[in-house]
Amino acid sequence: MISMDKIVSLCKRRGFIFQSSDIYGGFGGFWDYGPLGVELKRNVKEAWWRDMVSGHNELVPPQGAPAAFDMVGLDSTIVMHPQVWKCSGHYDLFHDYMVDCRQSKKRYRHDQVRGRWVQFGDQKVFVATAAEGDLEQEDVQRRALKYFRLRAKDADRLSYDGGLRTLDTVDELNRVLGPDANELGTLTEPREFNLMFKTTVGALGGEEDTAFLRPETAQGIFVNFKNVLDSTRVSLPFGIAQIGKSFRNEITPRNFTFRSREFEQMEIEFFCPPDQSQQWYRYWRDRRIHWYQSLGLAGDSLRMREHAEAELAHYSTGTADIEYAFPFLDEGEYGELEGVAHRGDFDLRSHMEGKLDPKTNPLRLELDETGKPRHRGSGRDLTYRDEASGERYVPHVIEPSAGADRATLAFLCQAFTEDEAPDEHGKPQARTLLKFHPRLAPIKAAVFPLVKKDGMPEIARDLYGELKRNFAVFYDEKSAVGRRYRRQDEIGTPYCITIDGQTVQDKTVTLRDRDSLQQWRVPLAEVATEIKSRIAAV
Ligand code: GAP
Repeated sequence: MISMDKIVSLCKRRGFIFQSSDIYGGFGGFWDYGPLGVELKRNVKEAWWRDMVSGHNELVPPQGAPAAFDMVGLDSTIVMHPQVWKCSGHYDLFHDYMVDCRQSKKRYRHDQVRGRWVQFGDQKVFVATAAEGDLEQEDVQRRALKYFRLRAKDADRLSYDGGLRTLDTVDELNRVLGPDANELGTLTEPREFNLMFKTTVGALGGEEDTAFLRPETAQGIFVNFKNVLDSTRVSLPFGIAQIGKSFRNEITPRNFTFRSREFEQMEIEFFCPPDQSQQWYRYWRDRRIHWYQSLGLAGDSLRMREHAEAELAHYSTGTADIEYAFPFLDEGEYGELEGVAHRGDFDLRSHMEGKLDPKTNPLRLELDETGKPRHRGSGRDLTYRDEASGERYVPHVIEPSAGADRATLAFLCQAFTEDEAPDEHGKPQARTLLKFHPRLAPIKAAVFPLVKKDGMPEIARDLYGELKRNFAVFYDEKSAVGRRYRRQDEIGTPYCITIDGQTVQDKTVTLRDRDSLQQWRVPLAEVATEIKSRIAAV
């Protein structure tokens, strides 16, 4: 099992990911991407944009697609008209349940507090833990011993009723020892907490000037549906894609960048005729999992989980999560990378007519106590007229919604490898490497002169300049070449090029492959083409 601590430490040590505001002790739920992290995340986003949008051929149906289709991009604002969030449902419904601890003054997400029923004599208490993963059971035992005033050697006098479970399965809060409390019953009843960050627009600053930071990029697409339709030549079926920041005031941000308060999403809203929506749903679900596989997430670590009917929003006829077995999770657990949802016509109709009642089926406007619509829509016509049939309808939507930070984290975890490789004397040495897919690797190649003399640095610098025009390259002439290789392996550089004595004579260089450790000679003039073709080939 790969240790998350090692990944987090490598990320900090080599400049992938830092805590936000680190010099002030960090700021919970916010993360900065360092020089290598920014390249990695950009490569993830660029691969997504290229594969979903700019490289899409609208003239031919892609493999498995029911028909050819258009894909266009969008960049909408983070702060939008507050009515957007009223009609989307986020204003009323985008909340989590949280509990507060009266003793420690800490706040927790109700469904995330975990613990175990522990019995000693005739007393039985639910001992919650703030530890994660493998440390949970150890922490429960340590806290239970402390609570019952026992010593470590008395651990076998404790008995357990059932395994680790979440607090939302426990009814008797008066028998709960909170994760940071030392007496029972300090947790409050669960309360709703809206996850949208508020801000104020304009100088007056009254309640009517309150706006929200978007909690998803999707709504920017829905409210621009008509603009895109009217300003381009797209016709149904077509998709609008957007990459951008989203903000959620998560109660308990955790697991490195997995659950952050500021993060990036890569979302597609795919508009199609209602009678074709099931086919398109299946197409996007399958296409999106293949995308992760094509970039290196493979085997049992990646899976698709179809939601059971009870889990679906009433307007949805299908949702599938693409999930990854992150190392911070228990064995057999998976974390969501992306959701592919069939959203029916819920969003466009809500923005047209007003907020629909998500509890009713068939869809109806949600009314307030006086019988008036709770939140009015834009009143704009967001229907689509099919040129061929003359039919007018509200398109149905398939939404593949991915997180750029979660995808980046999954690629990092998947790439993290520990093996052995011979050093310059042929002795096996432990090595840490990031086996990134070459498209994602922050640096594609490193150039080393074997020694800092005999004309080698001059040739190496010229080659570095030439390669830099094509892709991200690193130049290093310090320390033994074996150490330079290892430093590049640790940040996932797929190819290293060494300029040695032979280069000066026959104008060939040594190319070394990060994963196989194979080395071979390539003419100096062909290095750029060779690396480009290798990157494109995988
Ligand atoms: N428009 C649909 C939507 O936003 P979601 O499941 O709430 O759906 C989509 O979010 C994706 O955004 C998730 O699968 C995840 O990858 C990412 N995401 C959501 N909340 C996140 C958070 N707090 N931190 C990092 N990524 C997050």
